[in-house]
Amino acid sequence: MTASNPFHVGLLARGDDFADRRRELADAETILTTPGERVVLYGDRRLGKSSLLEKAVDRLRGQGHAVALIDLATASSAEQATNLALRALAPCLGSGLLDAVQGIAASLDLSFEVRTDPISGAPIPSLRLARRARSESALPSFLGVFDEVDRRLTAEGRHLGVAIDEFQRIQHWDPDAAWALKGATERHGAVSYLFAGSEKALIRGLFDTRASPLWKQVRVVEFGPIAPDELRAWIWRRMNDTGRPLDHDAAARIVELAWPRTQDVVELAHAVWEAGGDGPGPEPDGVDRAFDTLVDAKAPHVGRAWRDLKIDSPQQQILRVLAAAPDPRAVELLSADTLTEFALGPKSTVASAIQTLVDREWLARTDDGRLTFDDPFMRRWVQRTALADLGLPTPPLTGPTG
Ligand SMILES: Nc1ncnc2c1ncn2[C@@H]1O[C@H](COP(=O)(O)OP(=O)(O)OP(=O)(O)O)[C@@H](O)[C@H]1O
Ligand SMILES: [Mg+2]
Repeated sequence: MTASNPFHVGLLARGDDFADRRRELADAETILTTPGERVVLYGDRRLGKSSLLEKAVDRLRGQGHAVALIDLATASSAEQATNLALRALAPCLGSGLLDAVQGIAASLDLSFEVRTDPISGAPIPSLRLARRARSESALPSFLGVFDEVDRRLTAEGRHLGVAIDEFQRIQHWDPDAAWALKGATERHGAVSYLFAGSEKALIRGLFDTRASPLWKQVRVVEFGPIAPDELRAWIWRRMNDTGRPLDHDAAARIVELAWPRTQDVVELAHAVWEAGGDGPGPEPDGVDRAFDTLVDAKAPHVGRAWRDLKIDSPQQQILRVLAAAPDPRAVELLSADTLTEFALGPKSTVASAIQTLVDREWLARTDDGRLTFDDPFMRRWVQRTALADLGLPTPPLTGPTG
């Protein structure tokens, strides 16, 4: 039997296809099974926060615990968040919850109906703001659902663990979100909450400043990258286990080129595995070729993101300057020399262009405020495609910090 690729992007990795995170997983499981716990996990993009929540919920459910996962990543309003919460919570609490929500909906001037999923037969609750209430916040309905859940569980002597992904989005919908959340988390004794999100500044503002009502109410835990040694050993082992052995240098090269974001490492490992075929296992050269194949595959998407940058701003030129440097963290973009040498324009314009590039996830800031490319494949695309504009050759392929 031929084994399938053990490196998955965008799917929940099961068994040994899920790398490391033993400590984080044990912590998440403890939080979700301890009544009254409130913890927020925050960290850079693509490190594996959502995967960890999914994995913890999946495992706990398998052990018979009552747990729910609510992902707010796609919701654009508190009303939509309420629908997502109802959908996730309904299976844990049965039809009684839906009856109670009908009451909440009526008190908040919301219309409420329950449809039936034609395939599974499961109820799909759906809440909609009445037309005249459109301008009001629906956050009370979102939190009202949890009040109701807590009330029911308390009466039944039960406990529920709730993981809420990208929960910081509630701040975009209601300026008083922090106060509302404080009230809710103080009241609920039968529900434990594990929040996760990647808008670091927003999350720090919500929980980690003295001015916030949630200061010291919720434990704030930073979610970091998987240690390079762990990833190297895991990749080497999974390649071997699935019949595509590679040497230790090649496993190290995968991590060197794509670390620190877990997704980037897994994506490169996936491509190396696919390229492996029947022949002798890939060496570091093969890893470099797989990396460039991935850049080719992403080129249409990256090219579009490049064309979306403003032509009358130094945005594109900043990316060229950083891509030309062996280590972008060492570049002093705002120094007089750099501004002049690369004709970047006035300092204030460059500073605001940098911020746009960070917001659009072309660039990321390190904890000490230095700039790096957010994505190693986009960095390589700029090196291969846009350095010619400066009359520069394509530099050798290196890791994100040279
Ligand atoms: N422990 C892991 N083992 C194997 N693959 C993982 C692991 N963690 C993350 N991944 C890979 O990284 C991808 C991105 O992970 P995930 O979506 O969980 O990150 P995230 O931190 O939630 O990112 P974002 O901030 O963009 O939402 C996953 O689809 C998977 O391919
Ligand atoms: Mg996520």
